[in-house]
Amino acid sequence: MKETKSQVATSSQTVVHSSSRKEMLLRHLKSSYIQPLEDFYLGVLQNIPANIYGDLLIGIGYNFEHYDLMFSKMAFNLQNTFGDTAYSIRYKTMQYLLQPFCSEYGIEANRPLYQTHRELYANFYRELVGQDIPEMYPEESSNPWLQCSIRWAKIMYDALDAEGYSPNEKAIYNVAYHWAVEYLSITEFDLMRQGWQKLNISARYLDAHCAVEDEHGDYAEKAVFEISEPDNPIVVRAIQDHEEHLGGYYKSLTLL
Ligand SMILES: [Fe+2]
Ligand SMILES: [Fe+2]
Repeated sequence: MKETKSQVATSSQTVVHSSSRKEMLLRHLKSSYIQPLEDFYLGVLQNIPANIYGDLLIGIGYNFEHYDLMFSKMAFNLQNTFGDTAYSIRYKTMQYLLQPFCSEYGIEANRPLYQTHRELYANFYRELVGQDIPEMYPEESSNPWLQCSIRWAKIMYDALDAEGYSPNEKAIYNVAYHWAVEYLSITEFDLMRQGWQKLNISARYLDAHCAVEDEHGDYAEKAVFEISEPDNPIVVRAIQDHEEHLGGYYKSLTLL
C-alpha cells in the first residue's frame, strides 16, 4: 500500500507503517533459532541439577555480557565510517544504535537511572546460587557452559569484522546484525523467563529484559532503515548470520 503523508500523520497509521517496516526485516528470518531456544530453556534447563546453576549462570552470563562488547564494536564500526558516510545519516543511525546499549547500563530516555543489567544479573546469580557472582571469569575453565559461551561469543564478535566489505558496507552489516540481536532476544528472553518460571524461579533480570526488548527492537529497526534498505543483501546476510549464530549457540548448549 502506498502511504501518503496524511496516512502516516495519525498514530494508528504510524503503527501500520512501522509494522510493515518490521515485516520487511522479519521476512529475512528462517525461524530456525526458535527450536534450539525452546529445546534449551523448556527442555535441558528443566533437568539441570541446582548445584550446577552457578556454572550455568557464569557461562550464559558471559554470553550476555559479551553482547555489550559487541554493541561497542558495532558503534565503533559505524562511527569509523566518518568521512565516508553522510553526516546526518551517521549521527541518526548512531543515536538509534546507542539507545539499546545505554539501556544495558540502566540509561533509558525519559526514565530515571535504573540498575545496570549486569547488576541485575549479579542479583539473579546471588539469589539462585546463594553467593556473590565471581568478580573474574575463570581463565582456564572446566566449566563447559563457559567454554561453549566463549567459543560462540568469538564467532559472533568475529562476524562483525565483515571481512571483504568496505567500511560503509561493514557499518550496514553491523547495524543489521544489531537488529537481529535485538529482535531475536525478544523470543530468547521470553523463553528464558518461561523456562525459569517452570522451575518456580523468577528474577528482575528476566522481567527487565522482557519489558525492554521490544523497544530495543524498534530502535534497532530504525537504525537499519536510516542507513540502508531492508532488502540490501548485506542486511539479509547479517540477519541470517546472527540467526544461525544464536541457534548454533543454543544447539551447542543443548548438547552439553
Ligand atoms: Fe541486557
Ligand atoms: Fe536488547
